[in-house]
Amino acid sequence: MTDASGNPSFFDTLLDRTIVPGYSRLGSRLRRRDWPADDPHRDAMRGRTALVTGSNSGIGKAIAAGLAGLGGSVLLAVRDRERGEQACREIRAADPTADVAVTVCDVSDPNSVSACANELIDRLPRLDVLIHNAGLLPPSRTETAGGHETTLATHVLGPLLLTDRLVPLLDAADEARVILVSSGGMYAQRLAVDDPEYRHGRYSGTTAYARTKRMQVALTPLLAEHYAPQRISVHSMHPGWADTPGVTTSLPAFHRLMRPLLRTPAEGADTAIWLAATSATLPSGRFWHDRRIRQEHYLRRTHYTPDDLWRLWLFCREAAGLAVG
Ligand SMILES: NC(=O)c1ccc[n+]([C@@H]2O[C@H](COP(=O)([O-])OP(=O)(O)OC[C@H]3O[C@@H](n4cnc5c(N)ncnc54)[C@H](OP(=O)(O)O)[C@@H]3O)[C@@H](O)[C@H]2O)c1
Repeated sequence: MTDASGNPSFFDTLLDRTIVPGYSRLGSRLRRRDWPADDPHRDAMRGRTALVTGSNSGIGKAIAAGLAGLGGSVLLAVRDRERGEQACREIRAADPTADVAVTVCDVSDPNSVSACANELIDRLPRLDVLIHNAGLLPPSRTETAGGHETTLATHVLGPLLLTDRLVPLLDAADEARVILVSSGGMYAQRLAVDDPEYRHGRYSGTTAYARTKRMQVALTPLLAEHYAPQRISVHSMHPGWADTPGVTTSLPAFHRLMRPLLRTPAEGADTAIWLAATSATLPSGRFWHDRRIRQEHYLRRTHYTPDDLWRLWLFCREAAGLAVG
């Protein structure tokens, strides 16, 4: 299944197209057979610092544990300090050498994002890896204090703002990597450029979730271009289907049906860890799953024009409180 260019083989693509085998633990276990055992090598993160948002549970916690297991210093950026400290205790209980610490960051709240970034700029010399993992699937439409629909604020606006505020630290690193944890659910959604705040039509949390996950993938090439002068690369990925507290709570019927086939959080975390730590040279601006570049569309109806994408970029930059352009 291996292709040195990062592109998937025919069999790997077939797994992806048939969705259930590809996204479940079967896909992870079949593809894993071709992955070199020493990539990432065991000290790949030694001397490097990573920040992972939403890392007190599920895939985020597994990413934090995985990066610490490769020797990295890992900051768990969480909205509840005690839940973050508990996650650190659990990571250290499994690996007493893990270098993990908590920083408070509610990614949907610009004040919290800016306070977190300012504190880190005071504390750290540089940041090598920034992983935007925090996510949620709300049962009904809610808005943040800033007046933005919650999934848009959490999956798109917060990551744009946090990345921007951390540029001084990312710039100080040697080729920093920014990774957005998206979802395969985005394949079913168009770019919601006419209604990014989901103000019109009947609200569905699943649709809001998938629309904003589509936005993450769509904006990745623009972010890559935007940060290329600082040699910061930007990647989006999807973890497949993993058994996490988020899935149990938000999709109970799916969880009951699919449970035997769901990936472990560590399997879901694998590609984000690999993108952060591999010594391979990665092309910036692409969408990954199971360590291979994936298509951004499987349906003709989800394609958008460069004008649509630019409009969304301008809207999101302004909504995130960033300079437009
Ligand atoms: N599990 C899957 O099958 C799957 C599939 C596709 C994509 N994903 C993506 O993977 C990521 C992790 O999901 P998961 O399944 O591991 O879910 P999870 O167990 O619910 O974890 C989500 C994490 O995000 C945090 N979070 C939510 N809103 C936040 C905010 N405003 N600020 C800071 N942290 C916030 C949560 O913190 P609290 O504990 O404070 O709520 C929690 O730690 C998400 O982006 C999700 O969309 C998961």
